[in-house]
Amino acid sequence: MKIALTVNGAQVAAEIEDRLTLADFIRDHCGLTGTHLGCEHGVCGACSVLVDGEPVRACITLAGAVEGREVVTIEGLEDDAAMAVIRECFSEAHGLQCGFCTPGMVIMVRDALARGRCRSEDEIRNELAGNLCRCTGYAGIVKATGMARDRLARTDRSGVTHS
Ligand code: FES
Ligand code: FES
Repeated sequence: MKIALTVNGAQVAAEIEDRLTLADFIRDHCGLTGTHLGCEHGVCGACSVLVDGEPVRACITLAGAVEGREVVTIEGLEDDAAMAVIRECFSEAHGLQCGFCTPGMVIMVRDALARGRCRSEDEIRNELAGNLCRCTGYAGIVKATGMARDRLARTDRSGVTHS
């Protein structure tokens, strides 16, 4: 099948097999290897990307299903104001160890912060429960998320459109 979509602001068209996942399309066709594959069963969240602004698991989404839509990967958030703050906080609070879960994790953190769903440690843990860290660095991840919430609130650098 033929598909055409936007990936990180660029128009992409390709001929693909119907069964190709969005994750493999992003990594193999677009060369964007920041989207990681862990479980490939929709469990770990490592492959999280944004489709029309909403997080999805790219390993269980068919590339053909996002025809005509706007995909943003971790690479596409390099200049995002909220992500800049989240990166700072993950670095300062040791929110990553090997970094394998990190792209998916920070995409979910950014989304949870945009929805105002990080008001307490419990809420942060609940929001991030769908993202697994094999290094079990959850304490640092939760701390970093709280720091990012406070820093974004102080500086109003969210840069995220709240719906
Ligand atoms: S690789 Fe997609 S959820 Fe684990
Ligand atoms: S930092 Fe290693 S898997 Fe999370």
